[in-house]
Amino acid sequence: MTAIGIDKLSFYVPQHYMSLGTLAERQGIDPAKFSRGIGQNKIALPAHDEDVVTMAAEAARAIVTAEDAEKIDTVLFATETGIDQSKAAGVYVHKLLDLPSNVRVVELKHACYSGTAGLQLAAGHVARKPDRKVLVIASDVSRYDVDSPAEATQGCGAVAMLVSANPRVMELDTATGCHSEDIMDFWRPNYRKTPLVDGKYSTVKYLHSLANAWQDYVAQGGRAFNEMAQFCYHIPFTRMGSKAHAHLSKLNEAQNDVNLIESGMVYNREVGNCYAASLYLSLISMLENTDIDLTNRPVGMFSYGSGAVAEFFSAVVQPGYRDHLMIAHHRKLLEDRVALNYDEYLAFRHAPDPTDGSEAVMAQVARGRYRLARIHEHKRHYEAV
Ligand code: CAA
Repeated sequence: MTAIGIDKLSFYVPQHYMSLGTLAERQGIDPAKFSRGIGQNKIALPAHDEDVVTMAAEAARAIVTAEDAEKIDTVLFATETGIDQSKAAGVYVHKLLDLPSNVRVVELKHACYSGTAGLQLAAGHVARKPDRKVLVIASDVSRYDVDSPAEATQGCGAVAMLVSANPRVMELDTATGCHSEDIMDFWRPNYRKTPLVDGKYSTVKYLHSLANAWQDYVAQGGRAFNEMAQFCYHIPFTRMGSKAHAHLSKLNEAQNDVNLIESGMVYNREVGNCYAASLYLSLISMLENTDIDLTNRPVGMFSYGSGAVAEFFSAVVQPGYRDHLMIAHHRKLLEDRVALNYDEYLAFRHAPDPTDGSEAVMAQVARGRYRLARIHEHKRHYEAV
């Protein structure tokens, strides 16, 4: 059977962030609640000329060569924070990347799960057309109400993955385990800019879904727990990933070994939640920060989207994978950043969003090549600088 999986992958994060120490000072609470209690240091923040489209285009630009572009026949754009109720955000990315016109583009949604839907659907498509490639992009802005308990779990970012036959980074296993259940732990009605969230309940349902998805993975012929070289979890905040691993270890009567998850949390701690992209940011973090040689070793991955759809799956790291990682590029993105104070953070939240068709011109702040230049007559205008 042809091996199918992730051939290349990259993330993008904007250059601005707020330290959670700044938020703790503002709220008059112990900063250790954030650094240790939820396990986060910073929240990445988009400027007014950045959004899910510009972050996605930046992430994809790093991996898509002219040769790839000729083979891509599908773009799957996964997001919870779409910018249009009808038009797929991926169409803007398709244009910015100058991809051929004979490509299908569609947007996928299910809270933080949709990136995994994209990855699995892409693998199915490549199984049918092994000479084609699929560009899967997960891009999100996690934004909660000011002064809510969830505020510290904000963030933003995008991950782009090229799915192909004979992949150079990871081959996806065919066994996967799913769990879907109609619950209200996190949702966002069309008229709201921020989600409604039952925070404590969502953490309980996350663990419940993990147990069910794992059981299904085992029933579908998945690998044994102790076969996995590393685990990556959906990380709304890193403490959630730690709790997930402790839970799964207990279910498997195994020791809770934090060495199996720590590398996969390094980047997430500095970026914050980026919903659909979070699991894949954790995957990049793990591949780029572990000292273990992962050649031919399986990695366990858990995807959770509130509402809820969850999936446990695995993938085997390919020989020579390190040659296809973008470690220096990613570390530079994280190092070259600017801290915002609390008032600047509030100003960043209030991006112009005219609902009457009038024109809003965005100040040029984005550090990347792509930016949202203006909104006029209800249309978003992107440009490459
Ligand atoms: N030093 C160290 N730790 C401290 C501390 C201190 N000074 N003060 C508090 N803590 C600890 C608490 O003991 C607690 O630890 P435990 O979880 O082990 O009990 C932790 O910090 C969090 O504190 P609280 O229990 O007081 O929780 P909170 O009211 O601040 O809210 C939250 C936490 C519910 C997760 C909230 O951040 C939230 O609603 N977040 C958004 C929802 C979310 O991310 N859910 C995750 C599952 S759903 C999902 O994964 C999908 C998604 O992306 C949204």
